[in-house]
Amino acid sequence: QTQLRGDQVIVVSNREPYIHDQSPTGVVVRRPASGLVTAVEPVMRACSGTWIAHGGGSADRETVDAHDRVGVPPEHPDYQLRRIWLSEEEERGYYYGFANEGLWPLCHVAHVRPVFRESDWQQYKAVNQRFADAVVAEARSEDPVVLVQDYHFALLPAMIRERLPRATILTFWHIPWPNPESFGICPWRREILQGMLGSTILGFHTRFHCKNFMETVDRLLEARIEPEHATVTFGGAETLIENYPISIEWPTPETVARWAPVAQCRQAVIDRLQLPPDARIGVGVDRFDYTKGILERFHAVERLLEKYPEWRGRFVFVQVAAPTRSDLEEYQAFQDRIQRVTQRINRRFGQPGYEPVRLLATHHDHDAVNELFRAADLCAVTSLHDGMNLVCKEFVAARDDERGVLLLSRFAGAARELREALIVNPYHVEETADAMHRALTMAEPEQRERMASLRTTVQENNVYRWAGRMLADAGRLRLRDRIQARV
Ligand code: F6P
Repeated sequence: QTQLRGDQVIVVSNREPYIHDQSPTGVVVRRPASGLVTAVEPVMRACSGTWIAHGGGSADRETVDAHDRVGVPPEHPDYQLRRIWLSEEEERGYYYGFANEGLWPLCHVAHVRPVFRESDWQQYKAVNQRFADAVVAEARSEDPVVLVQDYHFALLPAMIRERLPRATILTFWHIPWPNPESFGICPWRREILQGMLGSTILGFHTRFHCKNFMETVDRLLEARIEPEHATVTFGGAETLIENYPISIEWPTPETVARWAPVAQCRQAVIDRLQLPPDARIGVGVDRFDYTKGILERFHAVERLLEKYPEWRGRFVFVQVAAPTRSDLEEYQAFQDRIQRVTQRINRRFGQPGYEPVRLLATHHDHDAVNELFRAADLCAVTSLHDGMNLVCKEFVAARDDERGVLLLSRFAGAARELREALIVNPYHVEETADAMHRALTMAEPEQRERMASLRTTVQENNVYRWAGRMLADAGRLRLRDRIQARV
C-alpha cells in the first residue's frame, strides 16, 4: 500500500456500505448483508477516498449534501460515500434484470436458467455509463486508482479507460467465472469481456476462475494470452489476471473482549428461540438466495433425524435467511418453497416445545449473528456454488474458544483454503447428513485442532492481505508505467 501513498482511491460498487432507512422512530442506519461490503469497507476505512454506490435506502436522500455525498461511517467519518440515484426503470433493467437474472445465474451455473432481455442490457449499459461519469467527476487527477467491484459493472472498466487512459483500474469479480461453454450462451459475451479488459488488473477469488476467464477470452476474442505471466493483451493494452482470495477483518482483542462468553451466548439463544434446554445447535447464515444450498441443507437435516434418531427432540437447525432481491419471481418462489419445506420437516419431526428447523427470514445485525455463531455446535455453509463465501470465515473468527465444527461446500471458493472444515458435496444429502452427525459427535480435542488451524488461516489471510496484495500489484504496475513514460 505504501506504493500508493498520496494516490486517490475511488471504489465503485452497486451495494452501498451504509443504508439510511426511514423507521417509525426516525432515520436508522443499516449495514447490508453483502460479502463485498464486509470485505471492502474496512479497507476503505483504512485508506479513505470516495466510494460510489447506488443509494437505495428510504432515507438516503435526506442524509447527503448538495453533491450527493455523506461522510461514513456515520459515527466517525473516514471516507466519503457518493450516492447514485437510479430510476425504477434503471434498477429493474440493470440490477434485477441483467445483473441478477442474467449474469448471476450465468456465472453460478446453479441450474437456474439465465434470462437475457435486450431492454435489461440497454439499462445495464446506460447505468454503467452513469457510474463512469461519476468516476470521472470524482477524479482529482488523470491517474486515480479505481476499484471496480463485481458483476454489476462489467462494462465500466473500458468506459473509464476511454476517458481516463492513465487510471489504474482494479476490477474484482466477487462471483465465480464459469467455463467458456457456459459463458458462451450470453448474447453480449464479447462486449462483456471487452469491457472487463479495460482493467489494469482483473481479480478473481481462485486460480480456477482465472483459468476459466482466460479460456473464455481465448475462445471468444482476438487477444494474446500469456498464461505464464497471467496476462491478456487486447487492443494493445495488457490486463493482469490474478487470484486474490477475499477475506474478513480479523476481530481485534478489544472487539473480542466485548463478546459475551460462549456459554452465555448459548443460553441467550436457547432462551430467545425457546429451544430445548439441552439443545444441540446447528446454524446457517445466508442471504435468502437459491445459490446458497438452503434447500439441500434442510434435506440433510431431515435425513439426519431420520437416520440418527438420537437427535430427534434435541438437534435444532437455526437458519438466518436475509431477504434479498425479493422483487424477482425466482427468489419469491424459492423463498416460498423453503417455507413449505420447513413446515413439512417440522410437522414430521416436531414435538410439543420442539421444532427441528427454525427459519429466521429477517435481516440480523452483526452482533446477533456473532451470538448465534458462538452458540452453535456446527455451522453449515453448503452453497451450490460460491465465489468465496465469507460466512464460514466469520464463524471461524467468532470461535475464540476453539470449539464448533464447520461444514463447508466443496463448491465454495473458501474450500480451497479452509481444508480443516468437514468438506461436503451439498448435492449429496446423505454425505451432508453424515457430516452433521460427525460434527455433533466430534471429540473436543479434534474440534480444537481443526478450529485452531482454521483460525490461523483466516487470521493470516485476512482482508488487509487481500487488499494489500492487489494494491501492491497496482503500485508495481503504476511504477512500471511511470518509468516507461520517461523513456
Ligand atoms: O458478495 C457477492 C454479492 O453478490 C455482492 O456482489 C453483493 O453485494 C452481495 O452478494 C449481495 O447481493 P445484493 O447486493 O444484490 O443484495
